[in-house]
Amino acid sequence: MPNWTLHTGDALTLLPALDTPVDAVICDPPYNSGGRTMTERTARTARAKYLTEAGRNHGHDLGDFTGENRDQRSYLAWLSLILAECHRLTRPGGAALVFTDWRQLPVTTDALQAAGYTWRGIAVWHKPTARPQPGRLRQECEFIVWGSNGPVFTGDEPVYLPGHFTGSQPRGARRRHITQKPVDVMRELVRIVPRGGTVLDPFTGAGTTGVAALEEGRSFVGIEHSAAYSAVTRERLASVQVSLA
Ligand SMILES: C[S@@+](CC[C@H](N)C(=O)[O-])C[C@H]1O[C@@H](n2cnc3c(N)ncnc32)[C@H](O)[C@@H]1O
Repeated sequence: MPNWTLHTGDALTLLPALDTPVDAVICDPPYNSGGRTMTERTARTARAKYLTEAGRNHGHDLGDFTGENRDQRSYLAWLSLILAECHRLTRPGGAALVFTDWRQLPVTTDALQAAGYTWRGIAVWHKPTARPQPGRLRQECEFIVWGSNGPVFTGDEPVYLPGHFTGSQPRGARRRHITQKPVDVMRELVRIVPRGGTVLDPFTGAGTTGVAALEEGRSFVGIEHSAAYSAVTRERLASVQVSLA
């Protein structure tokens, strides 16, 4: 039976205290994207950035989160430090999968490599409900930068995973986090870990990586800074475990 552990606090402080190896790190950091000026970076909350005005005023009572105000240089330094701790915990041959958007794609590939992983490629998360924008190409993709700790581990029963994933952010009552990922996409991604293995997500949010890991028979270790989102994760993971029992 897969199990889960959740730590509440700053990943940079908590990761150095962990010492149990994991089979993969699958994470969705705050992207720190889109702030062109100091004022834009520091004055806008994550809620203001990711929810439409209608969403903020009606319907979505989703918690804010911190860590969205870095410029490019400090984002590179910060993400490299966190991924270096993740790399220390990743078994030889294990993978790191890191979500990002088009603006932060170059800096994320730098951070992955600075942390010690061998960069292996970029997969695409396609969001079919993204809004068209006049005169522009539609921003309907986010990206998964991935790498491995040394040569890729394939084992006796290698998996063959796609490089393109489609899924929409959950809506209505199923949406528990401002930047929540679709469980079905995460269920495909966690299959990079052998069944019975362990996935680490140092930016757990509302726990979607954990839900996917448990549903796919993988154990989960999470870290989340926000106490409110930790509580949501605990509730979601406990309910998956009940449904699996
Ligand atoms: C993009 S969200 C993750 C959403 C998640 N994938 C989901 O589907 O629910 C990033 C999360 O990282 C958390 N976070 C930000 N800085 C952090 C830090 N230093 N340590 C741990 N968590 C942090 C935020 O509170 C936020 O919930």
